[in-house]
Amino acid sequence: MRLIATCPEEIKPVLAAELGELGAADLRFLYRAIEFDATPGLAYDLHLRLRTASRLLRVMKEVPAHSAPMLHSQVRRLHWPEWFDARHGFMVETVGVEADGTMTAKQVVTQVREGVREAFAAAGKSPPRVDTDEPKVVIVAHLSRGRCALSFDTTGKSLHKRGYREAGHPAPLKETLAAAILRIAGYDGTQPFLDPMCGSGTLAIEAATVAVRKAPQIHRRKGEFHFEWLSDFDRALWRETQDRVRGEKLDAPPAPVLASDIEARYVDMARKSALKARVERYLRFETARVQDVEPPAEQGMLVTNLPYGDRIGGDEDQVRRLYAEVGDVLKQRFAGWSAAILAAEASPYRTIGLKPRRIVELMNGSIPCRLLLFDLYRGSRRAPAPREHEDASSPATTPC
Ligand SMILES: C[S@@+](CC[C@H](N)C(=O)[O-])C[C@H]1O[C@@H](n2cnc3c(N)ncnc32)[C@H](O)[C@@H]1O
Repeated sequence: MRLIATCPEEIKPVLAAELGELGAADLRFLYRAIEFDATPGLAYDLHLRLRTASRLLRVMKEVPAHSAPMLHSQVRRLHWPEWFDARHGFMVETVGVEADGTMTAKQVVTQVREGVREAFAAAGKSPPRVDTDEPKVVIVAHLSRGRCALSFDTTGKSLHKRGYREAGHPAPLKETLAAAILRIAGYDGTQPFLDPMCGSGTLAIEAATVAVRKAPQIHRRKGEFHFEWLSDFDRALWRETQDRVRGEKLDAPPAPVLASDIEARYVDMARKSALKARVERYLRFETARVQDVEPPAEQGMLVTNLPYGDRIGGDEDQVRRLYAEVGDVLKQRFAGWSAAILAAEASPYRTIGLKPRRIVELMNGSIPCRLLLFDLYRGSRRAPAPREHEDASSPATTPC
């Protein structure tokens, strides 16, 4: 199978490392995506385990598409009736249409949709109905330089949807971004973990699943992955893969996973999400100010996402004070730990006052951020005071 794993562009190196560890080889780098070949067994395994990919596509064919009629006639010649059953509703999505410029998205959708339906009719079958609400089959048409790659989206719901999220926090991280942050920080589940500003608990819940080796999508129900609706779906191999992956889960994390927040309602929310993710018993939650937290072990990893902006960050002076206090806590109490702190690029993150070992640029949704990586030891060198103009432009309204 020719597969494509998609992700935000800046996450690509992290996804590549993850794919490599899970057994994918010969990776080809595309814009916001990585292509590779896989056996059906590896493909099933990746759907269950991948933490940093947004979705997986299975490329069926690439056809010339210099015009709408050409695309139409190419699509109708393909073996759609062999690939999926006419009883399943389907829809067509497009990628790359704007960059290619030869056709509009609507034209591509129409040509592919009608071409698929005609292929069924030509095979003497009634054409599948179009279903844009709950399609079982999603065809992705990727147009680039006069060619169109036609794929099935085999994931169904995006892989960031782990199925546990409680609604209500104003600034939750996407689960796939949380997973990427943990990987960049070097968290492998064997170190004590703490998120002292946990909000809805995304980082801590992801950390707990890493710690007990629990595959992020192992709870998806029958039929939720869209590869299950393709004709060559191998149910026996899928069951075997699920059983093997389930069997790798540990009974307990090798090291504690802790999460706290100043707001009791967010701690409650995080606890409920952890319960739904079935990792609640591996986590310790507390309502506490970051200024008061004590390290639960001599060494470990603190990973957090700083508040910023109107909704949770307070005004600019409060934010500066908070960041300076976070810096003091790290310096005075967390010697021997490492820390990974996600802060909005526009925030006064320099007032943390510690020199990062490394800075990684990441997007949190549409907000440019910095992931600051610190190794903390006694007398960690303070960074130079921020120059006035560097932080003066920080918009106080940007939520983090
Ligand atoms: C950006 S949010 C964290 C979002 C979280 N990563 C998630 O995925 O839901 C920052 C959190 O810091 C918390 N917070 C603000 N000031 C705090 C303080 N002094 N001590 C502890 N937590 C604080 C807020 O309540 C908020 O939930």
